[in-house]
Parts: sequence; C-alpha cells; structure tokens
Amino acid sequence: MSISLSQTVLVTGGAGFIGANFIHHWLSDPNRKAINLDKLTYAGNLDNLAGLDASDRLEFVRADIGDGSAVQSLLERHRPRAILNFAAESHVDRSISGPEEFIQTNIVGTFRLLQTALRFFRDLAEDEKKQFRFLHVSTDEVYGSLHSGDRPFTEKHPFEPNSPYSASKASSDHLVRAFCQTYGLPVLTTNCSNNYGPYQFPEKLIPLVIHNAINEKALPIYGDGQNVRDWLFVADHCEAIATVLEKGVVGETYNVGGWNEMANIDVVHTICDLLDQERPRADGRSYREQITFVKDRPGHDRRYAIDATKIARELGWKPKETFQTGIAKTVRWYLSNEDWVSRVTSGAYREWSEKQYGSQT
Ligand code: NAD
Ligand code: TYD
Repeated sequence: MSISLSQTVLVTGGAGFIGANFIHHWLSDPNRKAINLDKLTYAGNLDNLAGLDASDRLEFVRADIGDGSAVQSLLERHRPRAILNFAAESHVDRSISGPEEFIQTNIVGTFRLLQTALRFFRDLAEDEKKQFRFLHVSTDEVYGSLHSGDRPFTEKHPFEPNSPYSASKASSDHLVRAFCQTYGLPVLTTNCSNNYGPYQFPEKLIPLVIHNAINEKALPIYGDGQNVRDWLFVADHCEAIATVLEKGVVGETYNVGGWNEMANIDVVHTICDLLDQERPRADGRSYREQITFVKDRPGHDRRYAIDATKIARELGWKPKETFQTGIAKTVRWYLSNEDWVSRVTSGAYREWSEKQYGSQT
C-alpha cells in the first residue's frame, strides 16, 4: 500500500499580496487545505484573507520562516505535500533605505526554511518523497536590467541583481538550487515579472497611483518615467505557480511573465484614464494633472522583460489577462474596496510614506 502526504500545502507569506491571492486560488477547490505561516510584517495583512478566516481548510500561524521549531511542528502535524515560499521583504525602495531585513528574511530566513524542509523530507517514506515539493517564488529582478532592444530574460540569463532586494532574492534562489543539487531536496523555482491586482500594498506603483489619485495627492513618477516593467495580473501568476507545482520538473526554474512590457508613464496614464471614466474628478479635469516627476530611485533598473516560452511550451501555462483587462479589474477592485485601503493606509504604511515622500503624499 502506498503512503500519501496530505492535500495540504504550507504557504509562507500568505498574508501578503501574492500569497493571499494564491490561498484564495488554491482553496477555490473544496478538496484542498492550506496552512498560512506569516510573520505579519508591515506587509502582512490578514484582511487579505477575509472570507476564509472561518474556513476549516485554512489555518494561520504567526511565525518567522527562520523559526525552525515552529515550521517543523507544523510540518509534522500536517504532513503537507508542498511548501510554497512566498515570504519575503519585497519592496525595492525599502531595501535601499534599510537592507538588513532583506538579508535576514530573504537569505537567512530562506536558508533556515530549507534546512527545516530538508529535515522533514529526509524522514519521509519513499512514496511520500516522490510527492513532496519545495516551491520557491522569486522574481525577474535577479536577472538585472535590460537595454531596449535586448532579448527578454530566459531562464539561462545570468544573475546580475542591482538592488539589495534583488541581490537577496538572487541569493535565496542560489540556496534553493544548492539544496536540490547537494542534498536532493525536490525544489521548483519560479521567477516572475511585476504583479498587480487586488490586495497589493499601496507602496507599489499601481495601487499607490490609484490611492493617491482619488485622494487628490501627487502621482510620483521616478526619473523620466521611461523605465519598463512586464506586468502580470496576480491571478495569472497564481495559476502559473499551481501549474509548476503540479507539472514542473524537480530542479528546474520557470520564468513567468505577461508579455506586457510598458513604460511607467504609460501605466500611470492608463490608470488615470480609467479613473477619469470610473470616478471623474469633481472639477472635471483629468487625473493626469496630478502626475509629478520626482528624483529617480538609486540604481533604478531600466527594463525588465520575461521570456515565458518555457512554461508555455513545457507546462502549457499562458496568461489569461492582457494589461488592458487586468488593469481595468484592478482599478475597479480598489474603487470598490476603499475600506481595505483605508485600513492599510491608516497603519504603518502612513509612517513609511511620510518618511519616503514627506508631506508630498
Ligand atoms: P508582500 O511584501 O506583499 O508580502 C510578503 C509577506 O511575507 C507578508 O505577508 C509578510 O508579513 C511576510 N513575511 C515577511 N517576512 C517574513 C518572515 N521572515 N517570515 C514569515 N513571513 C514573512 O510580497 P508579495 O508582493 O506578495 O511577494 C511575494 C513573493 O513573490 C516574494 O517572494 C517576492 O519576492 C515575489 N515576487 C513578487 C512580485 C511582485 O510584483 N510583487 C513579482 C515577482 C515575485
Ligand atoms: P514597484 O512597484 O516598486 O516595483 P519594482 O521596483 O519591483 O519594479 O515599481 C515599479 C516601477 O515604478 C519601477 O520602475 C519604479 C517605479 N515607481 C515610480 O515611478 N513611482 C513610485 O512611486 C513607485 C513606488 C515606483
């Protein structure tokens, strides 16, 4: 008789933007369960899981990914089929003003999580070992910056991280790979482009612009606004992660992207135009008038672009949303969830935003 692990997954960082979206996605199948292990930093918000709190298919544990005994006891109690590591410090600007936390969580924390996972994995029966996966959620920023005309990043592109955030994520990716090569831990890694959608903390470009616009604040654009990002709607990213978990080949990395390269100024113009239709300004003028060019971010990567051919060809994943459909959904979500936004902005975010922008925002 074969022994099976449970249909539970351990999600780290599940109170954050992408982790929470993933938990909603995962639990949409009534046969699935999840444990959410999250330290609840400024970016962790249990409001993101509203509607699921009463579910007996989701358990929340407040802990650090580096806390070996907390993680080990969860693994032993639930015997999950996978650990999905979303937990990270994720904001580039914060990594510039205070890199220490990024080293602690993204590098040391991931290392300790890998050690705990390996201990659990080694004690599994052979059948269970075949099922178990450690899926590490990473970013395209590990590859560095492209010039216009360069080919998009493939999985073979060298790592050339430029910010403390991307350097810490690159380090974690290397550790994940090493635990597979050296110790045989069955890992999968995804490197995804910029996400947007519901529950994103309004320190990142898209929710910040929506929030500032309707609150009559400046829309700060760094530098000349010509930096390019490759935007992916978060539900598409969640679907990609679930696909890699089911079908990915152990030890492989998969780039995930939306084929949606856009300059920041064009992203902001699109949001302003949607808001002009959905929530026109009282004075009848365009939200575009609130755009303010501000000092550039140090070491600001010029362009990211993902070549998502491998995951499409080998695993059959493709994004469902275009930027136009995804951004319209996103703007509407923020307009209909102002309670969520105001609970976020009345907290630690406000202190951060004052420190970052002074009274400008
Ligand atoms: P986020 O900042 O919104 O959420 C991070 C979550 O991790 C928070 O809930 C926080 O409380 C938790 N956390 C932080 N440190 C922790 C620790 N030491 N132990 C336990 N929990 C901890 O981040 P996000 O945007 O949801 O990103 C999730 C993952 O996806 C990250 O690994 C990030 O690098 C990666 N990623 C993000 C994007 C993007 O555009 N946001 C794109 C590609 C990859
Ligand atoms: P961000 O959402 O912080 O993601 P990342 O730095 O990980 O790509 O920023 C997206 C782009 O928008 C990036 O080029 C920086 C720029 N940006 C602004 O111009 N103004 C802002 O207020 C913010 C937060 C970002």
